[in-house]
Amino acid sequence: MSDPAAPASVTLDTAALDTLFHSARTFSAWPGTWQDRAVDDALLRRVWELARMGPTSANCSPLRVVFVRTAGAKARLAPALDENNREKTLAAPVTAIVGMDLRFYDKLPYLFPHTDAKSWFDGKPEPQLRTAALRNGSLQGAYLIIAARALGLDCGPMSGFDNALVDRTFFAGTAIESNFLCNLGYGRRESLHPRNPRLSFEEACQVV
Ligand SMILES: Cc1cc2nc3c(=O)[nH]c(=O)nc-3n(C[C@H](O)[C@H](O)[C@H](O)COP(=O)(O)O)c2cc1C
Repeated sequence: MSDPAAPASVTLDTAALDTLFHSARTFSAWPGTWQDRAVDDALLRRVWELARMGPTSANCSPLRVVFVRTAGAKARLAPALDENNREKTLAAPVTAIVGMDLRFYDKLPYLFPHTDAKSWFDGKPEPQLRTAALRNGSLQGAYLIIAARALGLDCGPMSGFDNALVDRTFFAGTAIESNFLCNLGYGRRESLHPRNPRLSFEEACQVV
């Protein structure tokens, strides 16, 4: 019988780490044949089921996502895109609008029920609420990318767009604001340029 006190976690193997990190790239070219490998609702749900499990402060979970897939919805998104992001976004099977709900604390009685966490935020100054929403919403956006990669999807995150226009178009009448966009699909690997360097441990980290 296995030791019940043993850690439940395992270290991922090299192939899994490649999928999530080493081989995973930011894609801008999406094959014209992507319809052969549809990014259907079931797959988007699986992405969400994984992404939602990542940690947020007080489990506040401010991430809200609009998966833009239909031609009509893509056409509504198009005017908000920076010129250099338009063509690839229109070609991608799905574009996730990664948003954050500035009224995230309304759901805390459900998400963090053992204490009155809503009172920690309700009525607090807007910059404080925005900081919490942006911090946790961005973390969740990163979890979304890793979740999509874990399920075999390629990602193309973008911040080059008119946030206010996206908010008016997709989040009117809500407290949700866009953070960034992320194209999802199966990218064309031949289109990739050599990968740029990353900072070394010595450049970016200290152990004190
Ligand atoms: C939040 C965010 C915003 C980005 N915005 C844009 C963008 O507007 N347009 C673009 O072409 N690439 C954009 N990128 C792509 C980055 O330049 C790319 O992810 C980075 O250089 C790493 O590339 P790699 O994953 O291929 O190594 C963005 C990436 C992130 C994470």
